[in-house]
Amino acid sequence: MAQFRLPPNSRIKQGRTHQAPAGATNVRRFVVYRYDPHDGSNPTLDAYDVDLDSCGPMVLDALIKIKNEIDATLTFRRSCREGICGSCAMNIDGVNTLACIQAIEDIKGEIKIYPLPHMAIVKDLVPDLTNFYAQYASIKPWLQTRTPAPPDSERLQSKEEQELIDTPSACILCACCSTSCPSYWWNSDRYLGPAALLAAYRWLVDTRDEATGERLDQLEDPFRLYRCHTIMNCTNACPKDLNPARAIGEIKQMLALRRL
Ligand code: SF4
Ligand code: SF4
Ligand code: FES
Repeated sequence: MAQFRLPPNSRIKQGRTHQAPAGATNVRRFVVYRYDPHDGSNPTLDAYDVDLDSCGPMVLDALIKIKNEIDATLTFRRSCREGICGSCAMNIDGVNTLACIQAIEDIKGEIKIYPLPHMAIVKDLVPDLTNFYAQYASIKPWLQTRTPAPPDSERLQSKEEQELIDTPSACILCACCSTSCPSYWWNSDRYLGPAALLAAYRWLVDTRDEATGERLDQLEDPFRLYRCHTIMNCTNACPKDLNPARAIGEIKQMLALRRL
């Protein structure tokens, strides 16, 4: 394959190009963001030519092949390989998604892989999620009750009540939504972002929870909630087809109704 070239105005340096093994006939190029805090010469974009005839179908399969067979220094997170742990979230071909459910064949040409945008980077494709998790913890994502549970049963819900929490509970905290949100990019120190707000919504609509007032009090803030400007990037980015933007809208509605 031809030598990989960065666009002339790129601020990221061109890194190494790893050619496919001789004789490979089904080759795709993966251009991957590299950053090592201990290396003064980075960040770089490294190019890896991967023989797809000996690679699984997903982008994560290619990254694992690169790490195992071409460049053991490449760093990324992954765990389940089934789209349920959220670890492998990254920006692939310009879209925040999960590498383990993104098919290589659905992307044309060379495949550009960056970490989730606007986050501090620990190394390569690993963003620092400390603030993201702290924001999740701040909404107190657990059942809060005042009254004791029935002595002879659990706190039961109807099927309809349970269905209210079904969908928001499917969030895997991958951060694809929050890191696609312009409001979060510029105010992530004070705006909770769509992932934490979807989690807040999940507890607000849980009919067993008895801290609704306190939860709403905590959200009623010009930054924590109201920095959402309904741009909808979050909903478009969610690889689990969830709708954090609608949940945020419903929280705003709950706050408006309680002011009446
Ligand atoms: S709808 Fe709100 S949370 Fe979602 S991307 Fe837009 S501003 Fe961010
Ligand atoms: S709402 Fe979707 S994109 Fe956001 S953290 Fe949850 S699963 Fe990921
Ligand atoms: S490895 Fe778990 S979601 Fe991709």
